[in-house]
Amino acid sequence: MRFLLKVLAFVTLLLGFLITTESAPQSALITKLPGFSGTFPSKHYSGYVTIDKEHGKNLWYYFVESEMNPSKDPVVLWLNGGPGCSSMDGFVYEHGPFNFEPAKTNYSLPLLHLNPYSWSKVSNMIYLDSPVGVGFSYSKNESDYITGDMKTAVDSHAFLLKWFQMFPEFQSNPFYISGESYAGVYVPTLASEVVKGNKEGLKPALNLKGYLVGNGVADSMYDGNALVPFAHGMGLISDQLFENVTKACNGNFYDNVSPDCEEQMAKVSMDIDRLNIYNILEPCYHGTSLSAFDIKSLPSTLLQLGKTEKPLAVRKRMFGRAWPVRAPILPGIVPSWSQLLADVSVPCIDDRVATAWLNDPAIRKAIHAKEESEIGRWELCTGKLSFHHDAGSMISFHRNLTLSGYRALIYSGDHDMCVPFTGSEAWTHSLGYKVIDEWRAWISNDQVAGYTEGYANNLTFLTIKALNHNSLLKLEKWLPRHTVPEYKPREALDFYSRFLAGSKI
Ligand SMILES: *[C@@H]1O[C@H](CO)[C@@H](O)[C@H](O)[C@H]1NC(C)=O
Ligand SMILES: *[C@@H]1O[C@H](CO)[C@@H](O)[C@H](O)[C@H]1NC(C)=O
Ligand SMILES: *[C@@H]1O[C@H](CO)[C@@H](O)[C@H](O)[C@H]1NC(C)=O
Ligand SMILES: *[C@@H]1O[C@H](CO)[C@@H](O)[C@H](O)[C@H]1NC(C)=O
Ligand SMILES: *[C@@H]1O[C@H](CO)[C@@H](O)[C@H](O)[C@H]1NC(C)=O
Repeated sequence: MRFLLKVLAFVTLLLGFLITTESAPQSALITKLPGFSGTFPSKHYSGYVTIDKEHGKNLWYYFVESEMNPSKDPVVLWLNGGPGCSSMDGFVYEHGPFNFEPAKTNYSLPLLHLNPYSWSKVSNMIYLDSPVGVGFSYSKNESDYITGDMKTAVDSHAFLLKWFQMFPEFQSNPFYISGESYAGVYVPTLASEVVKGNKEGLKPALNLKGYLVGNGVADSMYDGNALVPFAHGMGLISDQLFENVTKACNGNFYDNVSPDCEEQMAKVSMDIDRLNIYNILEPCYHGTSLSAFDIKSLPSTLLQLGKTEKPLAVRKRMFGRAWPVRAPILPGIVPSWSQLLADVSVPCIDDRVATAWLNDPAIRKAIHAKEESEIGRWELCTGKLSFHHDAGSMISFHRNLTLSGYRALIYSGDHDMCVPFTGSEAWTHSLGYKVIDEWRAWISNDQVAGYTEGYANNLTFLTIKALNHNSLLKLEKWLPRHTVPEYKPREALDFYSRFLAGSKI
């Protein structure tokens, strides 16, 4: 009996010790998810971080601990683009811990299965809805929905400082920032804020090691000039048209106002018009696609197009995962589709599973998101924001970050026509760094998975070769969609884990 008491005392002591060293907020722990009957392979947390008390400005995150070694593995922040798109897009459709099997009836929820290629296999993942107004993030003062690149970076930085305070056990893990599409702007601007904050001695110090950008926008000129060579190389336009358009535009396809150039570009647009711009090999999910237009003429042309004889099914979240064809990022306000065309249907992409799941009251409760009555419906991409592209070209950000020793992986799905790899390849090359790993195939599952080129200063450019339709995995059978990890989950996890480990890809 005395022995038992001693054991009990010891156990109580041990428990007390465990409880006091366990510092992640237990109120954020997710214990159950309707639709998932298995055991969580690691801990999941979610909730709000208030970054401005006075305004009631709250950013929402979903945190998945690594399924390998959470105390040592990198912490990786994931950001979908837009501007205006929820990072739960990445969670549901790309590299989150679950695969979602659509519901069989209108009244049930999707079934959740574990995703064998989840990025949480090798890293602690933070999915952040940013800026406020996106996904489940909100502010009580709607003036916060008027925002831009730099404010978004400052706010996300404020989030990170508070988040690492709440989860102090992760402060010393290597930290990476990642994202795709318009996050090609979010990632380097936020990384620069973090570097600046560390220099100023802000606490906690963030252990930033590097960043990853997938099919990201970077620079008006490089991205704007990427489409024509892409379309030619992929066999979407003829040699003859390529010759004519190159001559007419004199190599400047992105802000050339000569009528001759415009005329030739219109021909290019016509040729690629009905493709699924997110993966030219894939069919559109429904409707015909608006695949090419000129952002200079926004919004009037688009409004007319939507209302007139031309049936134009415009995807509200066109900006979300990728950037529209021929729409180089230009300084100034970035129009959102839902602002322009409130009720047209959306071509190519199916977001029903995410929308149904994240608007279910039981799910919202389980993942600590505010109720619909309080913050409105979850949308893949919101039209609430008035967003200004005010950070200019990303090239000097990339240069400064890589020259300061931060590692960068710039990757492209090579069949994406929104932000074609040709632009990312060109701007990474334009930095003028010495090539230290010459263009070569990289291998996954014993097959060529794409190509990579390694530069000095730890800058790597990489492509992922598109899958053909028949070899899609189970995940893709449910989800006819486009972004990189979504289409090639196994290959994506391969290059991702090799990059994080610092080994040769
Ligand atoms: C499910 O919803 C769709 C769209 O609202 C509707 O067309 C269909 O009839 C519904 N099916 C059932 C079984 O209620
Ligand atoms: C919202 O914030 C703006 C800018 O700080 C401020 O001028 C305004 O009074 C606030 N509105 C409310 C309702 O608090
Ligand atoms: C290219 O230009 C030539 C000469 O003007 C013209 O004959 C030809 O039809 C054009 N081809 C295409 C595909 O536009
Ligand atoms: C990059 O560094 C240079 C030199 O320190 C500085 O002048 C420039 O403003 C920096 N650019 C960015 C985008 O931080
Ligand atoms: C590249 O990253 C490695 C760590 O993976 C580091 O040891 C090395 O110093 C970095 N090189 C440069 C040029 O920054």
